[in-house]
Amino acid sequence: MEKKNGFSSGLGFILATAGGAVGLGNLWSFPYKTSQNGGAAFVFIYIISVIVLGLAISIAEMYIGKRAGANNVTAYTKIRKNLGWIGLIAITTAFFIAFYYIVVGGFTVKYTLNSFADTPTDLKAFSGNIGEVIMYSAIFLALALVIISAGVKKGIEKASKILMPTLIIILVGIVIYCLCLGDGVGDGLAFYLKPDFSALGAKGILSAMGQAFFSLSVGAGSLATYGSYVGKEVNLGKSVMWIAFFDTLVALLAGLAIFPAIYHYKAETGIDLDNNGIVLLFNSMPIIFNSLGSGGKVVSFLFFGMVSIAAITSLISLIEVISQYLIQRYKLKRKLACLIVGIFMFLVSIPIGISLGYKLNDKSMMVIGNLSFLEILDQIVAGVLIPIGALCIAISFGWFMFKADNPKDFFSFKYLGDKLKEEGLDLGRLQYVFAFMIKYLSPLLILGIDILGISDNIFPNHIFSSDGLIVEIIGLAVIGLLIGIFFIFLRNKNLGDNQCEEVEE
Ligand code: PHE
Repeated sequence: MEKKNGFSSGLGFILATAGGAVGLGNLWSFPYKTSQNGGAAFVFIYIISVIVLGLAISIAEMYIGKRAGANNVTAYTKIRKNLGWIGLIAITTAFFIAFYYIVVGGFTVKYTLNSFADTPTDLKAFSGNIGEVIMYSAIFLALALVIISAGVKKGIEKASKILMPTLIIILVGIVIYCLCLGDGVGDGLAFYLKPDFSALGAKGILSAMGQAFFSLSVGAGSLATYGSYVGKEVNLGKSVMWIAFFDTLVALLAGLAIFPAIYHYKAETGIDLDNNGIVLLFNSMPIIFNSLGSGGKVVSFLFFGMVSIAAITSLISLIEVISQYLIQRYKLKRKLACLIVGIFMFLVSIPIGISLGYKLNDKSMMVIGNLSFLEILDQIVAGVLIPIGALCIAISFGWFMFKADNPKDFFSFKYLGDKLKEEGLDLGRLQYVFAFMIKYLSPLLILGIDILGISDNIFPNHIFSSDGLIVEIIGLAVIGLLIGIFFIFLRNKNLGDNQCEEVEE
């Protein structure tokens, strides 16, 4: 039987979820974080994190949504009444991501549209022009809202079916092009593929794990939300394999295009990996495209258009997490819920966008420590909220989903595997491997990396860092606040489920 509100097919679900996963995380933050953390060693830990942690936790998060058929808060209360705060953390994480996603997404729209101009976009000038930054954020957000307000099937699924294949075709073309540039390509590849672990540290490992989760969309509610829209017949294990494969492939391909290109043009443009950080994509690519003559304008248009497309489908998945909650909790109509979410996101994104512009123009206003609001948010999300969210997913799924009557069962991953199978989560030969990973391996690994990474953030190389401290304090305080809010205001409320939204067929 088809669900009232949901994806029409397994393929639609895979494409929409892959669309949510592939985004600025792959094309913007993966390259810049790789460049900041010494290259190949970071890439190596990122890939290991996807395989060892990301796959299992993605399946768990999706299943939590699928099992409940409801928004994030309801979904976790269906595991145990007192766990709803995990859903609240997920929804808040989605909000936090969206606040800066809109700004960076707006940048990609500007760069796309400016591709055919005589001079390439000047990052400093553009980011310092507050009116323009706000305008492009608004355009980007509006595009996402138009798609999402059309609904799950007609909006999200339909758009993803067209946009995802387009993206892959363009990206492969650009990679081939960049690999054939000649001089410097080898050096770029060496940076990207030859690991030097000495530069990484616990901070780098936490950052790579956070990046893997961020890229797979783990821990911000969207996997649970999309999972809640799939029919019973969809095989989550297989779907997650495809999504993770696709997502990781896009990130790795982006690196294969960007690093060789940067090294190739290094002498000419003066751009190298050290002096760019968060703006690597925006600083390096336009100069490269510009030096290609008129053909470069087309490549630029395709490239940044592709990044915009990827980012829009991800923003959609973030908005949907929050709209789903509002629709069900307050019985709102979809369009109204999307509008409220959109306006709120837009307003908060304004200071974020301004602060980045200030920082890039060397103004000291709206910058805390050495970081703009945008960087602080990104670090709170990828370094604190998402890793802790992932930890909560693994523990709630592995330890609280089924009540075990005797202690032997409580500690047994086989028991968990059997119970899941009974309920309909069948992963074939990997059933017990998955159960072991989610019950024991993931919580222990994430907890260890979190603790080491947090202390390394605050005391990098044993020197106190106020930036690191600020990020950790804000992140942990937000989590504490949300737990409080849940117990004071939400614990005994009925927060609705997918049946609350009426959909015209
Ligand atoms: N995975 C998206 C990206 O890589 C970001 C995202 C995170 C989207 C979490 C939804 C939820 O850009």
